[in-house]
Amino acid sequence: MNSTSETVNNSFATTLQDLIEYPSSGILSKVVVKDNNSQYSLLCLAAGTKIDEHTSTRNALVTVVEGTGNLNLEGKDIALAPGVIVFMAANAPHAVTAKENLAFTLALSEHLPAKKGVSQQTIDIVKSTAPVLKEHGQKITTRMYEIMFHAYPEVKSQFDMSAQTNGTQPARLANAVYSYAAHIDDLERLRSMVDKIAHRHVQTHVLPEQYPIVGECLLKAIKDVLGDAATAEVMTAWTEAYQALAEVFINREQEIYQTTKVADQN
Ligand code: HEM
Repeated sequence: MNSTSETVNNSFATTLQDLIEYPSSGILSKVVVKDNNSQYSLLCLAAGTKIDEHTSTRNALVTVVEGTGNLNLEGKDIALAPGVIVFMAANAPHAVTAKENLAFTLALSEHLPAKKGVSQQTIDIVKSTAPVLKEHGQKITTRMYEIMFHAYPEVKSQFDMSAQTNGTQPARLANAVYSYAAHIDDLERLRSMVDKIAHRHVQTHVLPEQYPIVGECLLKAIKDVLGDAATAEVMTAWTEAYQALAEVFINREQEIYQTTKVADQN
């Protein structure tokens, strides 16, 4: 699969027909333009090509440019012909078959609410705390669990306490918090990490209303461990940043809970 891409620093115009190029078999994919929130590609499928059923974690809009084929979306067949557009919600299973040479554009749009509500000042401050979080991360998260299990003992039953005692869970949380601080302005890089954690959260029945508890305890732990280095500015920035991260997890977990419910019903 080939790929060329344009940056979005400069405006440009092009003609899709000029970009169409069919391989002798399979798919040729060209990224026409992308930025942090979206990616617009042209896919050219040789006649007879099949893309097996898969999902995307991003919303996708397909626009057929030329050729014919079939798109199976969530079990329903849609005939593809020039001018047909199909919106595929994130995580919707889909498969494509090209009857003839088939070219379509695929616009993927950001599904994570990246940076939503987080000010540039917060981003700068949180990023500046990344080195100190790398150094003291595990101390902070160990302290965070200590505070949480003391103040909210009811959450204990959700945790594997051996992973607390041997330090693996505090280490995982420390790594997640550090990664977030380092990439708060590019959540796309954290997609697979967020996904893995969100699945674990769903397995352990984490609920949206529990996020303020973890937030409160994490912020207290940051203050306890960093002392004077955790200035009022740092604390305000982390309060805002934590809320944004909590929202990312809550949204992703809601999707996973819904998918699980649908799977249970079938
Ligand atoms: C933004 C906030 C949060 C972050 C960054 C975070 C991070 C993590 C990470 C990195 C893991 C390990 C995942 C793995 O197994 O690889 C995890 C697991 C877990 N988290 Fe969270 N978490 C957050 C919020 C919460 C909340 C609100 C709860 C609710 C009490 C929670 C409860 C759990 C539980 C029960 C596990 C499984 C731990 C185990 O296996 O013992 N987390 N979390």
